[in-house]
Amino acid sequence: MIIAVDGPTASGKGTIAKALAAHFGLPHLDTGLLYRAVGYQIFANGGDPEDESDALAATDFPDSLLENPELRNEETGGLASRVSVHRAVRQALFERQRAFATQPGGAVLDGRDIGTVIAPEAEVKLFVTASVEARALRRWKEMALRGESHTLPEIEEDLRRRDERDRNRAEAPLLVAEDAVVLDTSELDRDAAVAAAIALVEQHGLASR
Ligand code: DC
Repeated sequence: MIIAVDGPTASGKGTIAKALAAHFGLPHLDTGLLYRAVGYQIFANGGDPEDESDALAATDFPDSLLENPELRNEETGGLASRVSVHRAVRQALFERQRAFATQPGGAVLDGRDIGTVIAPEAEVKLFVTASVEARALRRWKEMALRGESHTLPEIEEDLRRRDERDRNRAEAPLLVAEDAVVLDTSELDRDAAVAAAIALVEQHGLASR
């Protein structure tokens, strides 16, 4: 069974995807991490994120980079959003994601275009979303724990900018697949969101087997 989990930044999709993978005994790929690695690598190369050939060169990052905790910070997230608009970057990362999705036994992938581009045949497609305010508050709490200090309005503004870029880009924009189920986590805590996602997979995915 392939489970596609798409949604905007800080919607809870990563937490939900990880929990679904553990619950159903499936391997999990956080595809945002691949784009973050490209963003980080372009910075290391001294390249320009707006330049498609610089961005393509950065897709040749070492696998060990995926373990680097700096990939998770806000700056790298912003760079990832900028390099992800390039078609050449998306094509370069396609096969790796496709191979993961189609491995025997199935997989859980989270990202922006899993249900629309990477695995349109996924048995279950969840689109996880939440209000900008709820997402900003979560981000603010995570960042405070890591000792990063940004104000709530700064974080909200950054999320809006990233949403705008991810939704309006020409290549594989963030959109709800026609056959996706929308899960709004604005009012849910972690456990309630995970429980709701498991129930949706049981209802939609296991029924289609
Ligand atoms: O999910 P995330 O915040 O780690 O993703 C970082 C950026 O990578 C996001 O702003 C857009 C891009 N991305 C993408 O274009 N397609 C994906 N499947 C995953 C992430």
